[in-house]
Amino acid sequence: MRIKDRVAIITGGGSGIGRGTCLRLAEEGGRIAVFDLDFESASETASTVQKAGGDAFACKVDVSRSSDVEQGVNEVLSRFGKVDILVNNAGMSLTLSIAKTTEELWDRLHDVNVKGIFLCCHAVLPHMRKQRYGKIVNIASIVGNSGTPGMVHYGATKAGVIGFTRGLATEVGPFNITVNAVGPGIINTPMLDHEAGASTVQMLEQKVPLRRIGEPRDIANAVLFFSSDDSAYVTGQCLFVCGG
Ligand SMILES: NC(=O)c1ccc[n+]([C@@H]2O[C@H](COP(=O)([O-])OP(=O)(O)OC[C@H]3O[C@@H](n4cnc5c(N)ncnc54)[C@H](O)[C@@H]3O)[C@@H](O)[C@H]2O)c1
Repeated sequence: MRIKDRVAIITGGGSGIGRGTCLRLAEEGGRIAVFDLDFESASETASTVQKAGGDAFACKVDVSRSSDVEQGVNEVLSRFGKVDILVNNAGMSLTLSIAKTTEELWDRLHDVNVKGIFLCCHAVLPHMRKQRYGKIVNIASIVGNSGTPGMVHYGATKAGVIGFTRGLATEVGPFNITVNAVGPGIINTPMLDHEAGASTVQMLEQKVPLRRIGEPRDIANAVLFFSSDDSAYVTGQCLFVCGG
C-alpha cells in the first residue's frame, strides 16, 4: 500500500474526479476526509469507501468560505489526528463568451477555483509544517495552459492554480512539503456531461492522440503519485493527464 495510514482531505470528493480520487487513495491505505459543498454526495463517496473496507467520513465544506474550511480541517484533526495529504479538486466550470461573463460569475469562479485552494492550503499548512511532512495536489486543467473559446474565465483560474502551485512549492519545500498540480484533459464526469453533448464528446475524442476521453481513475492515478513518497523529490510541477 503506497499511502498506508496517511490522512487525506479531498475537496469536491462527492463527484467525478474527486470521488475517483477518494476511492483510489483509499485503495492504497489512505484515511479519507471527503469535503464537498453537497453533503449527500460526499456521504455517498464516504460510504462507498467504507463498504470497500476503507476509512472515510464526509464533511460539508464550501471551499470558498474560510469558516467552513477551518471547521472541516478541525474535524479531520479531531477524528484522525493529522493531515498528510490535501487534494484541492473542488472546482466549477462554465462555457460562456467573455461578452456574456458577468462580474458575479467571474468572482464566483475565482472564489471556488483559486481562493478555495488558497484557503485550504492556509488551513492545513501549519499542521504540515509542524510534522515536517505534507503532500498538496492541486487540480488544474489543460485549459490553464492553452486558449479555449468560451472558457476565458475558467482558463484564467486554472492558470492561477498552476502559478499558485509553483510559488507555494518554493515556500514550503524546506518543510518537506511538496506541492504539485495535475492538469486533466477531457474527463468523463458530470461536469463534462453538463458542458458537452454526445456529438461534441465524439468530436473531442478524435482530437485526443489516445482516441478516448479520460476516466476519473486516470487522474486519480496521477494524484496518487504526487500523494505518495514515489514523488518524494518532485515539487512545483504540473503533469498534464490528457491522452497526449
Ligand atoms: N471533467 C473534466 O473534463 C475536467 C477537465 C479539467 C479539469 N477538471 C477539474 O477537475 C476538478 C473536478 O471536476 P469534475 O469534472 O470531477 O467535476 P464534478 O462537477 O463532477 O465535481 C465537482 C465537485 O466539486 C464540488 N464543489 C463545487 N463547488 C464547491 C465548493 N465551493 N466547495 C466544495 N465543493 C464544491 C461539487 O459539489 C462536486 O461534487 C475541477 O477542479 C475541474 O475544474 C475537470
